[in-house]
Amino acid sequence: MRVLVLGSGGREHALAWKVAQSPLLTKLWCAPGNPGTASLAENVALSPEDPEAVVAFARTQKVDLVVVGPEAPLMAGVADALGAAGVPCFGPVAGAARVEGSKAFAKEVMAAAGVPAAASETFTDVAAAEAYARARGQVVVKADGLAAGKGVIVARSAEEAAAAVRELAALGEAGKRLVLEEVLEGEEVSVIALCDGERYVLLPPAQDHKRVGEGDTGPNTGGMGAYTPAPFLTPAALAEVGESVIAPTLAVMRARGTPFRGALYAGLMLTQAGPRVLEFNARFGDPETQVLLMQLAEDVLPLLDACARGQLAPRPLAVHAGVTVGVVLAAHGYPQSPRKGDVISGLESVGEGVQLFHAGTTRRDGALVTSGGRVMTVCARGATLVEARERAYAGVARVSFPGKHFRRDIGARALAEGS
Ligand code: AMP
Ligand code: GLY
Repeated sequence: MRVLVLGSGGREHALAWKVAQSPLLTKLWCAPGNPGTASLAENVALSPEDPEAVVAFARTQKVDLVVVGPEAPLMAGVADALGAAGVPCFGPVAGAARVEGSKAFAKEVMAAAGVPAAASETFTDVAAAEAYARARGQVVVKADGLAAGKGVIVARSAEEAAAAVRELAALGEAGKRLVLEEVLEGEEVSVIALCDGERYVLLPPAQDHKRVGEGDTGPNTGGMGAYTPAPFLTPAALAEVGESVIAPTLAVMRARGTPFRGALYAGLMLTQAGPRVLEFNARFGDPETQVLLMQLAEDVLPLLDACARGQLAPRPLAVHAGVTVGVVLAAHGYPQSPRKGDVISGLESVGEGVQLFHAGTTRRDGALVTSGGRVMTVCARGATLVEARERAYAGVARVSFPGKHFRRDIGARALAEGS
C-alpha cells in the first residue's frame, strides 16, 4: 500500500513509525513530516490544510490511504475532498470533526447520544453567562471553538468564574459561544476508538499529563507525557465506555449524515459516579499516540485502512503485556514562548528499546535544533510501570539541549495506586 501521513508532530512520527513496520506498506510519505519521519518516509512539502493540494498529490502518486494526524486539516475539509475524489482517508469529514471544533456541538451530540457527561449550559450572551457563572462560583468555563489549549478555565470562586467568562468571551470567534460546565473531580483518562463510521475497536486507556509542572501545576500544555494502560480504567470499564460513549456517539453522527471515520478520542473524568466525558477530539491524542502505538502488538495499517473503507471488524486488539511510558522534552519557555534554535545532542546514545519521536525539531546546517515547544517524546516499554519509567527516564537523561525541561512524575499517580 502507498500511504500518506499528514502532520509533523510526535503523533505523526509515531504513526509513520508504526505504519513503516507493516508488511503491506510499499511507499510512505509524510507531509510535511519532521526530521524523525525523514528516516522512515519521504517528507513532502505539502500543506496538510490545503484539500486541493492533498487530493492532487494523492491522485498523482496513486496513494491508497491518507492518514490525518492533526485536527486542522480535518476542519479544513481534507477528508471531504479525499472522499469526493475516491481516496480512502483515515480521519473524519469536517461535519464529524465538529465534535472537536465546537464544544457546544459536542455537548449537543453527547445529549442526543445519552452519553454520560458533565452537566452544562451554553451561552451566546456574555452578561447572562457572567451572571450564571457568578451564581455558580465553582464552574468550568469553555470557549466553544478551538483556542490552542487556552479555551478552558476551571474557576473556583464567583470572582474567578466571572473573570473567566470575560477572558474567554474576549477570544473573538472561538469565544462567541461559551459552555459553562459543572466541575468534576477524579482521574482523567483518554480513550481512543478507531472507528469506521459504524463500528469501532478500542485502544487501551492512556493518561496524559496536561499541566507543564510536576504535581499538575502551572499552565496547560498540549501534553507533557503519557503512559498506557492507565490502571484507573479496568478492561471491563473500558468496554463499558465503548458501549455507553463510543457506540451511541457513532450512531448519532451517522444519523446526522456525517459518519465518523477515524480516531474518536474521549477525554474522560472518572468520577465516583462513573466515567463522564469532558471532551471529544476527532483525532489521535499527542502524546497518547506515541505510547499507544508502542503498546499495540499488531499491524496498525489494516486497522486504519478498514476504518477508512468502512469495513472494520470489531474485536479486541492485540497489545503487549506491560506498560509504555512517554516523556515529553519541552523547549525553554514552553508553553508561553518556546525558544527555537537550541542544538540537540545525545540522540544516538539512548538505550536500546527507547524510542524517540520527534516533534519540534529541524535540521540547520547539518545540526538538529529545536523548532517548537514540544521537542520530542522519549518512550519506552517495560514489564511494569516502574521498569518502563526507568527506561524512559534513562533515555531522557541522554538527550540534551539548552533549556530542556520535562516532568519527572509521568505515571506517578498510577505508581501511588500501586500498579
Ligand atoms: P477539555 O479541553 O474540555 O478537555 O478541557 C481541558 C482540561 O480542563 C481537561 O483536561 C480537564 O483537566 C479540565 N476540565 C475540563 N472540563 C472539566 C470539568 N467539567 N471538571 C473539571 N475539570 C475539567
Ligand atoms: N494530549 C491531548 C490531546 O491530544 O488533545
